[in-house]
Amino acid sequence: MVNRRDRLMNSSAHKFPIAVLVSGNGSNLQAIIGAIESGRLDAEIRVAISSSSSAYALERCKKHGINSAVHDQKAYASKEEFETAIVQTIIESGAKLICLAGFMKVLSDAFVNKFSGFIMNIHPSLLPSFKGLHAQRQALEYGAKVSGCTIHFVNENLDGGPIILQVPVPILPDDTEETLSSRILREEHKLYPAAIQLFARGKLKIEGRKVLIS
Ligand code: GRF
Repeated sequence: MVNRRDRLMNSSAHKFPIAVLVSGNGSNLQAIIGAIESGRLDAEIRVAISSSSSAYALERCKKHGINSAVHDQKAYASKEEFETAIVQTIIESGAKLICLAGFMKVLSDAFVNKFSGFIMNIHPSLLPSFKGLHAQRQALEYGAKVSGCTIHFVNENLDGGPIILQVPVPILPDDTEETLSSRILREEHKLYPAAIQLFARGKLKIEGRKVLIS
């Protein structure tokens, strides 16, 4: 007879193990947590790693019983040591996918190559437009009529890896950086769990610059 404990153990056995890297508010982390808790995403956050001890994302982890770790670059003698600590935490966690969700550090080529095909990032623009910081402000200043968000695999080029999913968001005439950012964030929160689910189900295949979805 299968008891409740066995059922729980079995249900977590097929949950796809992920690590989420954050630096700040963590609303995307929250969206991933929400999707997992509501059964829309068959994943398990093995660890959330923050580059800052004051990130609100850490409070979210506490509230939801998620294992977290802080690796602040300032505490390490070099970027290499900082990244080695992150790698160790990820490997110990057993995560099979690394999700950058507002992680404000640029990872070295060595790090990215080590996990090539296993790191995703979310960016608040329709890449390849408006890479880097303040993507929403860049879109407004450029006078674009449409922006949006992108989930992509991470490679050595900043915000330049193969694109997994994108959603457009119209830019309204009276938009400010805040109003545009919050409308884009609403889409980000749907997109990230969807991309992780596709990966977890083995439905993503990278062919050159293209990500094929089966
Ligand atoms: C998001 O806009 C994401 O696209 C960008 O950083 C922001 C993080 O927001 N990479 P949050 O910490 O998930 O709320």
